[in-house]
Amino acid sequence: MAGPRILILGAPGAGKGTQSAKITEEFDVEHITTGDALRANKDMDISDMDTEYDTPREYMDQGELVPDQVVNAIVDEALSQADGFVLDGYPRNLEQAEELEDMADLDVVLYLDVSEDELVHRLTGRRLDPETDEIYHLEYNPPEDPEVEERLVQRDDDTEETVKERLRVFRENTEPVIEYYDEKGTLERVDGEQAPEDVWEDVRETIEDAA
Ligand code: AP5
Repeated sequence: MAGPRILILGAPGAGKGTQSAKITEEFDVEHITTGDALRANKDMDISDMDTEYDTPREYMDQGELVPDQVVNAIVDEALSQADGFVLDGYPRNLEQAEELEDMADLDVVLYLDVSEDELVHRLTGRRLDPETDEIYHLEYNPPEDPEVEERLVQRDDDTEETVKERLRVFRENTEPVIEYYDEKGTLERVDGEQAPEDVWEDVRETIEDAA
């Protein structure tokens, strides 16, 4: 039987990546993440797609959205190959939400709700292990192994200035997407401000109830 088709929504830093890693493990679904896909292709030539800049990098490093035509193609391709999935980072505006209607049916739409002060704190303290892609936080979730600590890196867009711009872009473009699913009656709100394991409890139960 195909796995559940899950959409996870939330502001930058809400914990989408952290919870998606647990979802993929527990429900044996694919993690489709536009952020990771774009980071892996930051210098891809998109000049023939009628875009303002020639690569995704310029948009991402300023905290702006990469143009829809680039992201839609990535998601369409990934979804066509997945039976069950957790989709993270898409849709980020109403145009993308409409595109998604034609690409896949969803079993559950989760929204991780976190206050803005907490989001800034989480993003500026986030560090990544480049060898395992594990997500850490300097205060909330530091690595125990000093060797791992030594090699941690900060994402290019996690500086305070870019974080503020990403949150502005979220308010302007992605909050209407949350209202869109709320009005359709499919949005499952989860308190994302709890400890990660408590958020996970709620996420797991919500998926089990809905799928
Ligand atoms: P993307 O990679 O999607 O970034 P984002 O949405 O800004 O989300 P993040 O990955 O920053 O946060 P997260 O919610 O996954 O949090 P995490 O689990 O790491 O997008 C980056 C860029 O790509 C965009 O700006 C845009 O340019 C482009 N892009 C991507 N998709 C696009 C699209 N569809 N259209 C156009 N452009 C697109 O957690 C954060 C930190 O908090 C970690 O340190 C973690 O350890 C900690 N933490 C997590 N949960 C908790 C908790 N419960 N308590 C305490 N700490 C916690």
